[in-house]
Amino acid sequence: MADESPLIRSLRAAVAAAPGDVPLRLHFAELLLAGGRNDEAVAEAAVALQHAPGDADARALMVRAMGMPPAPAAAPTERAPGPTGPTASSAPTESSPEPPVGKAPAFDWDAAEQQVQDVVGPRFLEEPQTADGEGAAGDADAWDVDAPGAVRLADVGGMDEVKDRLEAAFLAPMRNPELRRLYGKSLRGGLLLYGPPGCGKTFIARAVAGELGANFLTVSLSDVLDMWIGASEKNIHDIFETARRQAPCVVFLDELDALGAKRSRTHHSGLRNVVNQLLTELDGIASGAGNEGVFVLAATNVPWDVDIALRRPGRLDRTLLVLPPDATAREAILRYHLRERPIEAVDLGKLVKATEDFSGADLAHVCESAAEAALLDSARSGSVRLITTKDLLGAAKQIKPSTEPWFAAARNVAMFANEGGLYDDLLAHLKRKRKL
Ligand SMILES: Nc1ncnc2c1ncn2[C@@H]1O[C@H](COP(=O)(O)OP(=O)(O)OP(=O)(O)O)[C@@H](O)[C@H]1O
Ligand SMILES: [Mg+2]
Repeated sequence: MADESPLIRSLRAAVAAAPGDVPLRLHFAELLLAGGRNDEAVAEAAVALQHAPGDADARALMVRAMGMPPAPAAAPTERAPGPTGPTASSAPTESSPEPPVGKAPAFDWDAAEQQVQDVVGPRFLEEPQTADGEGAAGDADAWDVDAPGAVRLADVGGMDEVKDRLEAAFLAPMRNPELRRLYGKSLRGGLLLYGPPGCGKTFIARAVAGELGANFLTVSLSDVLDMWIGASEKNIHDIFETARRQAPCVVFLDELDALGAKRSRTHHSGLRNVVNQLLTELDGIASGAGNEGVFVLAATNVPWDVDIALRRPGRLDRTLLVLPPDATAREAILRYHLRERPIEAVDLGKLVKATEDFSGADLAHVCESAAEAALLDSARSGSVRLITTKDLLGAAKQIKPSTEPWFAAARNVAMFANEGGLYDDLLAHLKRKRKL
């Protein structure tokens, strides 16, 4: 954002470096709100609430940011009915008198969903036991992908190979200092997750974070790069310093591609400095004793654009391909996205078969479209009906797996630029799929 103030920028980076620091996040949200950026303030307050459910300050801030009159503390989820003027005077005023909450067209979707929720039959064909009638305790929370820390590796459906590698690369050595000492150097350095978009790289990293708690620093590189000159390098340094203090600690560098293309192609000298700083920090990890127990996990969709210097031995020298979800993973993902929707006798097996090569994001899209179709139907006919297998299969048919273009590009790289066997995993996968 070009017009972003330095204060907001550095706060944003600070929040990214310490995602669990609720007061810091709320301070940031206050500033956003004061700047009239209500939507962003709402989003920050929401994240704060995930970290500290029920936090009164976060709740109050969210209410203010949404332009609603403060609700009684007992009923936080209730939507305020009736006309409400935005309280933040600097907020851009909308022409419609609607409350600025979500997309509420003429048809009352909430009421409709509520109505059908009362008449829900067996949700899945072959699995009638998961009662979601009362209070949805324990388990349901584990599925809350939006709450960092709440996702555990067990929540990642399928993908056993990926999980095993992560267990060996980070989790076992973190839990077991003896093991770390025993294997010493070979456990240092970093692991680069790569694969088509929407297939769970970020999600998996969050699951690792859930396993490790405080010893996991998430950094989205695009946030670091929002900084003014010189600040990005300092930020990167600070992040790694924090990691060293908290060792054993995993630093997760998400969206590594934000660093741009290979250094030679990166004309912007600021970016080059950032890459250099990252190299310095990674080397620190590889050599100095002070860096013992600092592991780096990174993710990208375009590994071939990642500066080759970043991938030298001791840096991000190991790669891990995150493929589109297998059948088990697809089932888990579908279950997750259908968990709160009014569905009836859904044949998951069929749906799983019909969604091969779909990414996690595609699957979410399928569920969304099916829900839309059923609700539109209900609105049209005036009588509410549940979402069926047919809706879902229909939606799946309409949606092309978004991973295809990625594989087309990746195929060329794997075939013609597989230096040092960097893409052996990918080649093996393409061979299995007969796409070579
Ligand atoms: N194995 C899985 N189990 C459960 N949910 C999954 C799994 N894989 C992906 N998902 C779901 O798919 C969504 C998209 O995944 P995610 O954002 O992690 O993809 P990504 O690889 O980081 O994509 P991008 O490259 O675009 O950043 C997640 O929010 C999650 O709900
Ligand atoms: Mg991601």
